[in-house]
Amino acid sequence: MVYKHIEVKPIAGACGAEVFGVDLAKPIKRAVFGEIYKAWLKHQVVFFRDQKITPEQQIKFAKKWGGIHIHPFVKGMAKYPEILEVKKTEKDTYTFGNRWHTDQMFSPTPAKATMLYAKETPSFGGDTQFANMYLAYEALSPGMKKMFKSIKTFNVGDGNKRRSTYSSRNDRYKGASAQPKKPPKGLKTNSEHPLVRTHPETKKKGLYIGVHTQNLVGFEREESEFLINMIREHCTKPEFITRFGWKKGSMAIWDNRCLQHYAISDYPGQRRRMHRITIKGDKPF
Ligand code: SIN
Repeated sequence: MVYKHIEVKPIAGACGAEVFGVDLAKPIKRAVFGEIYKAWLKHQVVFFRDQKITPEQQIKFAKKWGGIHIHPFVKGMAKYPEILEVKKTEKDTYTFGNRWHTDQMFSPTPAKATMLYAKETPSFGGDTQFANMYLAYEALSPGMKKMFKSIKTFNVGDGNKRRSTYSSRNDRYKGASAQPKKPPKGLKTNSEHPLVRTHPETKKKGLYIGVHTQNLVGFEREESEFLINMIREHCTKPEFITRFGWKKGSMAIWDNRCLQHYAISDYPGQRRRMHRITIKGDKPF
């Protein structure tokens, strides 16, 4: 792909590219944003380094990607409800996002994109991993693809309603990390989705599974758990993964429709503080 306004450098074979030549604190011309968006669809997650932006500027940039989604279970910042502050202090043990997942998979219309901006980073550790779900699907045998084609997953967002095997964290939300809030009345916190999802923009197929997936619809529990464990293991083969090391001022924007991500919890005793905005998505098909 040829870019006129930006430079794009892949950071791994699986997915992810760094974008150069953009200052997110300044207004972004339509042609520039068009190229960023194309690079994003191609590489699934794009990164910007050394950005110095205010919450207002982050919100303005986020709106270019779609409507902002307000998290139903976690409080946004007091002054900026659109931004969720993902914070881990020296004393905290819980790491937000420390499971392979795709955002809001429990919702009938899960998140399209997530934007994470680093405010404070540990001196080492605290990377985020991304797994390419197109590659995970493409690597399946024709027999598996045929079998998976009509399978639907059942996904649950409310931790209390999950089986104990999937909600063993009793330190959930303890400490400074994103704080829980009461979800709006009547919010749907479980949904069925196709295991093989077609990306609405690229039209490519990918596996769609994450920590919210509780069972496969119409399967016996033993069959379902066996297959889910097998698919989870398959999805996170090293060949499908890229790993991003954060520095203060780094920004990542990832596509939840074709990636899983995992926040690595390997920096005890250190601080990490990120500003996260999620973009609304559509019903998967
Ligand atoms: C998340 O899962 O949204 C958080 C990712 C991170 O903090 O690296």
